[in-house]
This record gives sequence, C-alpha cells and structure tokens, in this order.
Amino acid sequence: MRRLLITGAAGGLGTILREGLAGWADFLRLNDREEMPAAGPNEEVVQGDLTDFDLVKELVKDVDGIVHLGSISRENTFENILDSSFRGTYHVFDAARQAAKPRIVFASSNHAIGFHRREDNLGKDAPYRPDSIYGVSKVYGESLGQYYFDKFGIESVSIRIGSCFPEPVDRRMLATWLSPRDFVEMIKAIYSAPRVGCSMIYGMSDNREQWWDNSHASFLGWRPQDSAERFRAKVEAADPPRHWDDPAVRYHGGAFAAVGHFED
Ligand SMILES: NC(=O)c1ccc[n+]([C@@H]2O[C@H](COP(=O)([O-])OP(=O)(O)OC[C@H]3O[C@@H](n4cnc5c(N)ncnc54)[C@H](O)[C@@H]3O)[C@@H](O)[C@H]2O)c1
Repeated sequence: MRRLLITGAAGGLGTILREGLAGWADFLRLNDREEMPAAGPNEEVVQGDLTDFDLVKELVKDVDGIVHLGSISRENTFENILDSSFRGTYHVFDAARQAAKPRIVFASSNHAIGFHRREDNLGKDAPYRPDSIYGVSKVYGESLGQYYFDKFGIESVSIRIGSCFPEPVDRRMLATWLSPRDFVEMIKAIYSAPRVGCSMIYGMSDNREQWWDNSHASFLGWRPQDSAERFRAKVEAADPPRHWDDPAVRYHGGAFAAVGHFED
C-alpha cells in the first residue's frame, strides 16, 4: 500500500509526511486548499477544497490509502468546522466507499478525550470526552470510521495525535509530544500491516510521562523511538509551572479544556 493521497498536505503534518514518505511511497497525491510546492518525482499536487465532493471523488481514484489530515486544526467557529471537518471528512469516507475502498488514516486528536483528568491513564476503551467543538469533530470522524468499516468494510486507523511538532514547547507537551520521525514511522507501519480493521492509536512518543496506553495497537509493530525528555530542562525553564488545580493542568486537553466557548 504505497500509493497514497494526503489531504491537508500544505500543513505542518502534511509537510512532515511529504518529506518523510518520499522514497518510501510509490506515489503521493497531495491535496490542500492552500498552495503547495510543485510536484516532485512520483508526486501529484492538486489544490482544491474538500467541501467539493466531485473533487474528492477524483482525489481518491487509484490510491491504496488516504492520510486524511485536511481540516481546521484547532478550535474555530462552528461554520468553519462544519465545512472543513464534518463535511470534508464525510466526503473523504464516502468517496472511498465509491472507489476501491482505500485504507484511511484519520488524523484525530487528544481533544476527543480532552476532558478526562490527567491522573487517569486512558486506553482504547476510554469514553469520548471532547473539550471543544474541534474535539467533537474528531469524535465524529472516528465514528465515521467505525460506520464505514461495519457497513462497507473500509479499514481505517484513527490516530489521536498528541502534539506533533519539531520539539515540545511547553510542559504539557512533555507528555503529549509525538516526534515527526515517530509520526512518519507510524504511518509506514499502518500501510505495511496486513490488516488494521477499524483501530485507534494514540499518537505520542516514548515520553517519560505517559497519559495514554497503546498496548491494544501493538499488532502494528510500531515502537516510538524518540522521547520529549531530552527537552525537559529547556521547556521547564521557558514555561513556568501552573497550579495543580488550573483546568489547563487538570485535564488531558490542557488549554482547550480551560477556555470558554469560541464564539462567545
Ligand atoms: N499537529 C498536531 O500536533 C495535531 C494534533 C492533533 C491533531 N492534529 C490533526 O492533524 C491534522 C493536521 O494537523 P496540522 O498540524 O498539520 O494542521 P495545519 O493547520 O498545519 O494543516 C491543516 C491543513 O488542512 C488544510 N485544510 C483545512 N480545511 C481544508 C479543506 N476544507 N480542504 C482542503 N484543505 C483543507 C489547511 O489549508 C491546512 O494546510 C489536522 O486534522 C489536525 O486536527 C494535529
């Protein structure tokens, strides 16, 4: 499975995957509504919006897999999230159903479970507790994955990504950080596995602080290689500690759980 469509390819994670999968993938089709660098070898660049269903049907043609990253990537107005995340994600799954049922990676988020308390370690059966409308859109995307697997047999993996950036920049990320390298290797593992069914995996590196348990996903053969620990001194010097009862400390979702409703 090395012919992949990446949505949201102009974004942070799309850029990481474009670089990280070059030379591994046989073909990458890159989509975003924003401009992207021109196509390299074995690449096709298609600018356009996922709200356009006809476009999405074209995008999913002749691919083995879809890494669906394209969405509003933080809290926003309901209308913006409705278009980008709800409508766009439905288009991706339904276009896959109408095509050759490629294996889908859905970029979910820790904000789908952001209102759990930090002292509670979460595994695969943790109930959803979204901390934002953004988090609700991720619950919806994971549910679409279940529905399209149960009814149509489309395989998918929802990754509840913690914080995937070049390095952790605050104390919370010492637990939630997913290194770019670990993310790239996770995607390769998902498209190398003989079967994934409809799965969920937490996206974090081998950090000292662990809030999430990935033992259920060991069948993927993915082992994180990096740890946020080597950044601890730098992060702690730059980010003063908060009170233990601050909502941004109390909940997995951090600041997303602490702030009020976006549109108020
Ligand atoms: N980076 C992280 O740590 C993190 C954590 C949790 C979840 N995620 C999820 O991973 C995905 C990628 O995150 P990112 O950090 O690269 O975000 P990003 O904002 O950098 O990139 C998202 C991209 O999606 C594109 N996009 C949005 N709506 C679109 C639409 N309707 N049609 C076409 N393109 C559209 C945007 O133009 C943007 O380039 C997102 O779904 C995000 O919610 C990321």
